[in-house]
Amino acid sequence: MTTSSLSTSRVVIIGTGAVGATTAYTLLLRERVSELVLIDANHEKALGEALDMNHGLPFTGGVKIWAGEYSDCAGADIVIIAAGASQRPGETRIDLLKRNAGIFDNIIHNIVEHNDQCIILVATNPVDILSYVSWKKSGLPSNRVIGSGTLLDSARFRYLIGQNKRVNPRSIHAHIIGEHGDSELPVWSLANVAGMNLELGEQDQADIFFRTKNAAYEIINAKGSTSYAIALALDRIVTSILQDEGSVLNVSTLITNYHGVSDVYLGVPSIVDRSGVRELLDIQLNEEELRQFQASGQKLRDELSKLEL
Ligand code: 2OP
Repeated sequence: MTTSSLSTSRVVIIGTGAVGATTAYTLLLRERVSELVLIDANHEKALGEALDMNHGLPFTGGVKIWAGEYSDCAGADIVIIAAGASQRPGETRIDLLKRNAGIFDNIIHNIVEHNDQCIILVATNPVDILSYVSWKKSGLPSNRVIGSGTLLDSARFRYLIGQNKRVNPRSIHAHIIGEHGDSELPVWSLANVAGMNLELGEQDQADIFFRTKNAAYEIINAKGSTSYAIALALDRIVTSILQDEGSVLNVSTLITNYHGVSDVYLGVPSIVDRSGVRELLDIQLNEEELRQFQASGQKLRDELSKLEL
């Protein structure tokens, strides 16, 4: 069985930990791609994941999955990077920078050696900084180096608002922007239910944002890592790219002269299509949102200036 979306798309996933493997499984279930390649520094792990998923193929569609090598990046439409350490309870995403920045040199070098036409989609934390690092080291145009950004945070935000209003989160339009991390901010001034004002009290707003921002800490304390929602978020980005949707997604992208912030990757509403990030939406921010957005950008710029790039 084939569908048009299955024509000839190849997605490579580097890193088959909880996020990489769940993303592969999500892409498989949704039959988004025709070829799915799993790469891991521990090749046995990638082999095991590929084998396990292959055994499910009689129940799904015709996706070809295998544990591969970097040479398989040739011909890939999208290379997702989910490799590296994840947070331990109590750690922030920025705490991972030292441990994860080191492995990106090799990963990026190996990808572009085989394919400089693909889109690189970064999920490893701290995702905004590592997306910037990937952009710098790859030499690819910034529209083709994308981070998962605050898409997941925005989904959490919409879920929690939906719970409060007893409305399906798909009908809630609301953005978390900035760092995918502790300096992110809610754009309450633009949040709405199908275009209607949210009418949420200050305390409800504070609770919803607190739970959004701290969602990953809550899940990591409870089960060690997060994986399902980020996998669905990555699937959403992959689909918007491969199907040339032009969906507006809060991905992490290069910010240049945007609300007074430059030379940093941050999550902002962006139009995502076959070219990658086609355009950033020039959203209106109120004074407080602007201040917080600039502070988030400054925080990440300070971190970036400590790196040798
Ligand atoms: C998350 O927000 C840990 O960044 C990961 O789920």
